[in-house]
Amino acid sequence: MAPSERWDPERLPSQAGRTAVVTGANAGLGFFTSLQLARAGARVVLACRDEKRAANARAAIRRAVTGAQVDVVRLDTADLSSVREAAGELSRLDRLDVLITNAGAVHPPRGRTVTADGLELVGATNHFGHFALVGGVLDVLERTPGARVVTLGSIATRLVRLDVDDLQLERRYTGWRAYAQSKIMAWSFGLELDRRLRASGRGTRALVAHPGYSITGRTPIVRGVNEPGVGQRFVDNLQASFTQGKDRGAWPTVRAAIDPAADGGESFGPRYLVKGAPVRETPAGVVRDRATAAAIWAESERATGAPLLPLSPH
Ligand SMILES: NC(=O)c1ccc[n+]([C@@H]2O[C@H](COP(=O)([O-])OP(=O)(O)OC[C@H]3O[C@@H](n4cnc5c(N)ncnc54)[C@H](OP(=O)(O)O)[C@@H]3O)[C@@H](O)[C@H]2O)c1
Repeated sequence: MAPSERWDPERLPSQAGRTAVVTGANAGLGFFTSLQLARAGARVVLACRDEKRAANARAAIRRAVTGAQVDVVRLDTADLSSVREAAGELSRLDRLDVLITNAGAVHPPRGRTVTADGLELVGATNHFGHFALVGGVLDVLERTPGARVVTLGSIATRLVRLDVDDLQLERRYTGWRAYAQSKIMAWSFGLELDRRLRASGRGTRALVAHPGYSITGRTPIVRGVNEPGVGQRFVDNLQASFTQGKDRGAWPTVRAAIDPAADGGESFGPRYLVKGAPVRETPAGVVRDRATAAAIWAESERATGAPLLPLSPH
């Protein structure tokens, strides 16, 4: 095995002295990502929309990891004023080594729903809010040597055709399309972000990770955070051959965030697409396409009113 492929997700390099921010950290993958980073010694900031759920997650991490440094910042990614406030608060951190844009609406509404900012809800939650957040914390990332942004993709990116002229889904909405399209935008954004960071001479790097197919009933029970009933565990365990728990689903994200051998522009996912150890992978063509990335970027700037890393004219 080449040295760059060696990675044990259960023996992480020490993250003492480093700070990670994880959005949507109170449940699911975001919680386990935060827990694993805290276990490795990182200070973790849980960026969550609900105070009570965030407090439960913070308490659970502190129960599991003696001396864990865990803070909470309020963030609703579907509300640009909340994103601006959170970015302001995070900008005051001494350092920001890793920003993980994990929060996601994974059960989209059946009908198209619009946020207070006039954006399609699923796209706003999963991508546009994160686009604005990255712009808002770029300075503190840049102040931190070796800083990384990790965005969350999905295998859904391989399963739909993107309509680049309908990124707000005004013409053709289904919940599935909204979710898959939001993940195409997120993955494409991660790769384009890395290109633009490099082009502008910045030191921050961007990577992408996806968790395969990670489900609640196959995930360890954590009081106040993950408490699936017996029925759900039974049904979810029937799908064991093609699913994994969210604790394992967090592995590719954690690897993208802290593997010293990982580089900006790379993507990580489970070895067997839906489950398995975290490995490098080649993303779907749609998220590698530069023209698509430019269109998504332009719409993200328009939608958020927050220009980010303009390309200098050649
Ligand atoms: N599970 C999978 O198999 C899978 C596959 C591919 C990609 N992913 C991606 O992985 C990420 C996490 O998924 P998951 O399975 O862990 O889902 P999950 O268990 O439903 O957790 C989603 C997290 O995002 C938060 N969130 C949702 N809307 C938010 C908002 N407007 N502002 C702030 N936080 C918000 C939730 O907070 P609340 O508790 O307040 O709702 C929760 O903490 C998502 O980006 C998803 O697209 C998951």
